[in-house]
Amino acid sequence: MMTDKMICPRCGADFNRQGNTQWECTGCGFTVKFLDGKPVFTDFPQDLNPSEKIERSAEQGTVWRRFNWKFIEKIAGSMPEGSDVLDVGAGRADFKALFARHHYLGIDIYPYPEIDAAVDLISMNPFRAASFDLVVLANVIEHVYEYRALVSRCVEVLKPGGALLITVPFLLKLHQEPVDFHRYTRYALQTLAAENHLAVEILDAYHNPLFILDEGIGTAWERVKSLRGLPKVFGKAGVYVMQKISNGLKGSLGNGSINPADRVGDPYLLVYQCLFRKPGGTRELPGWQFSAPQSRLSTRISPPSSATRSTAGKRWASELKPGWWAMKKALLPTPKSWARVTCRWSSAIHTARRASIRSSTW
Ligand SMILES: C[S@@+](CC[C@H](N)C(=O)[O-])C[C@H]1O[C@@H](n2cnc3c(N)ncnc32)[C@H](O)[C@@H]1O
Repeated sequence: MMTDKMICPRCGADFNRQGNTQWECTGCGFTVKFLDGKPVFTDFPQDLNPSEKIERSAEQGTVWRRFNWKFIEKIAGSMPEGSDVLDVGAGRADFKALFARHHYLGIDIYPYPEIDAAVDLISMNPFRAASFDLVVLANVIEHVYEYRALVSRCVEVLKPGGALLITVPFLLKLHQEPVDFHRYTRYALQTLAAENHLAVEILDAYHNPLFILDEGIGTAWERVKSLRGLPKVFGKAGVYVMQKISNGLKGSLGNGSINPADRVGDPYLLVYQCLFRKPGGTRELPGWQFSAPQSRLSTRISPPSSATRSTAGKRWASELKPGWWAMKKALLPTPKSWARVTCRWSSAIHTARRASIRSSTW
C-alpha cells in the first residue's frame, strides 16, 4: 500500500488506519478526515477551478501535452518495475496510466476523484523522507506561488539517486485562473536544480512556432467576429488565409521539435521538460538512470548526456515527418551554415556600405 508511506505530518508517528472515515495519529492524536474515500490533509482553496477530465494520450490533446506524455512515458519506461512514484499536483491523474508497472501515488491540493490524497505539500508534508524514486511535477510549478518551497519538499521525499521530473510551460496563455503565477526560463530551472543540489540530467525545450501562430490566429478570429461591415469581411478573409497558410506549413514542418534548452536557436519555446537527479547514496533498489536510446528519428525525446548536449543538434520531435526531415537534412544547409552565410553577406554589405559612405564623404 502506497499510503503506508504517509505518517503524521505533525509528529512523524504512524496513523491508526482502522476505519474509513478518518485516520488518527498514534503519537499526537492528529486526525485526518476522509472525503470520498481519500484522506484530506489540508483545506483546499475555494477559488480553484477544478479541471474537467479530458482524455489525453500520446495521440490525444494539444501537441505540447502529447510531448509531455511521450517524455513521461520514456522516463517511466526506463525505471525498474516496482519503483515508487509520487505525482504531485496530479489533477485528473492523466499520467497515472504510464506508471502501471510502478507503485504510483497521486496527490493534489484539490480532492479530484482520481487522486490518492488531498494535500498541499507546502503547508503539510505527510510523507516519510526519502520515500520515492521519482517525483513528478507536471505542469504544476507555474500554479504555485511558493514554488521553491514545493520543490524543496519534493526533494525531501526523494530517495538518494531518485529524480524529480518537471514539465512546465514557457509560452502559454493564462490558465486555471486565478491560480496561475509564474513562467520560468531555463536559467530559473537550472538555479532551482542547483539550490536543491540536484544534477540536471535533462533540460529540454519544446519548440513549435506554428502552435504560437495558431494561438494568434484564434485570438484574431475572436477580435474579427466583433467587427462590423467591410472590416469584418476582410478580417475574416485574412484570418482564413492565415489559417490555410499555417495548415500548409504544418504539412512540411510537422509538430515542432525537442532540443536541449541550451541550444542557441528559437527562443520562443513552448514547454520545458526536465529531469533533475538527487545525488546517490545507499539504496534498497538499484539506482536507475535514464539511458538515452541510440539517437533515432523515431525516438526523438532522447536526452543527450551533458558531454554531447552542445553538439546534439536538432532532434526533430515530430514522428510524422521523418522522411521530410532526413531529406531536408541531406539537401539543405544547417542553421549554422545559414548563419555563417548570412553573416558573411551582411558583413560584405556592411563593408560595401561603409566603403560607399567613405567614398562619397571623401
Ligand atoms: C495544470 S494542473 C496539472 C495537472 C496534472 N499534473 C497534469 O499535467 O495533467 C496543476 C495542478 O496542480 C495542483 N496544485 C496547485 N498547487 C498545489 C500544491 N501546493 N500542492 C499540490 N497540488 C497543487 C492544482 O490543483 C492542479 O490540479
